[in-house]
Amino acid sequence: MTQQTPSFHLTFNLDPRVVAAELEKGLTATHAHCSPKYFYNALGSTLFEAITHLPEYYPTRTEASIFAEHGSEIHQCIPQQAAWLDLGAGSCQKAASLFSGTAPGVYVAVDISLDYLTDTLINLQRSHPSVKMVGVGMDFSASLNFPAALATQLTQHPIFAFYPGSSLGNFTPTESLGFLNRVASVCQQGQAGSGLLIGIDLVKSVEILERAYDDDLGVTAAFNLNVLRHINTLLGTDFDVCDWQHKALFNVAESRIEMHLVARRAVTISWGERSRTFRAGEAIHTENSYKWTIPNFTALLKKAGFAHTQYWTDPQAQYALFWAY
Ligand code: AVJ
Repeated sequence: MTQQTPSFHLTFNLDPRVVAAELEKGLTATHAHCSPKYFYNALGSTLFEAITHLPEYYPTRTEASIFAEHGSEIHQCIPQQAAWLDLGAGSCQKAASLFSGTAPGVYVAVDISLDYLTDTLINLQRSHPSVKMVGVGMDFSASLNFPAALATQLTQHPIFAFYPGSSLGNFTPTESLGFLNRVASVCQQGQAGSGLLIGIDLVKSVEILERAYDDDLGVTAAFNLNVLRHINTLLGTDFDVCDWQHKALFNVAESRIEMHLVARRAVTISWGERSRTFRAGEAIHTENSYKWTIPNFTALLKKAGFAHTQYWTDPQAQYALFWAY
């Protein structure tokens, strides 16, 4: 058995000036907004992990129950010795828990930051010494262009694209179509058996949806408010989290949960030479989490270029795992 060591690629550089310009643009817009990617500093990632343990937050638990209930059928979809493309890999846990059933040929963990991936992959390699492991730091919401040598390597295997966790929900339907389209063309370049396994949160009662994003312990509120401290670090603003209140609502017309931070009183935020005044009640829109129906998401996958789709769901049809190829 060959002992492999992980290799790493960074295709994307978070230039602090680009980040500052993007944040500044959102904060000074008539309807202030910021991207949900800024939730995930060290504390934000920990708070999200805590959210996944909340009784109100059903998606993570329900996805796990679908894997447990339909594991053998799901494993039958995963080709042997495939090139796994773990999109938004994070801790790589979900993918790694599937390794024992179907070993990958190559495991490519893609995330916006290599910071967490590096240690994770080095550790994962210990328990899977013969799997070739690659970490890629890439903003895959914008494009899916892998370094040439890696792209060539991928096409020599069937490609198993894996996007669990219903993270697609942060993309608008138009962005989702663009993203799925890029995944479909990557899969078409792989050997026979290539496909995408993706977790999708489904439309359900407004009450259940809104509770999942406004829990009794206030963990989601802390997760939302923490973005202000992260922005203070990135842009040099002087947000005081005490001036802001967490709000989550289901926008039925857009089929999305929206999270906002609402000013409790009139506040002026300053950074560098600039400032922005918020009236009491004025809000910053911090996240959209789109919810799909089975027919609508099936249609989206078809439109994106996947000829075949199937799905598994829980008994209450709260969440679905789709296999598209
Ligand atoms: C990580 C995008 C799947 O939308 O449910 C959880 C993020 N925000 N609670 C979601 C989130 C508030 C989560 N995703």
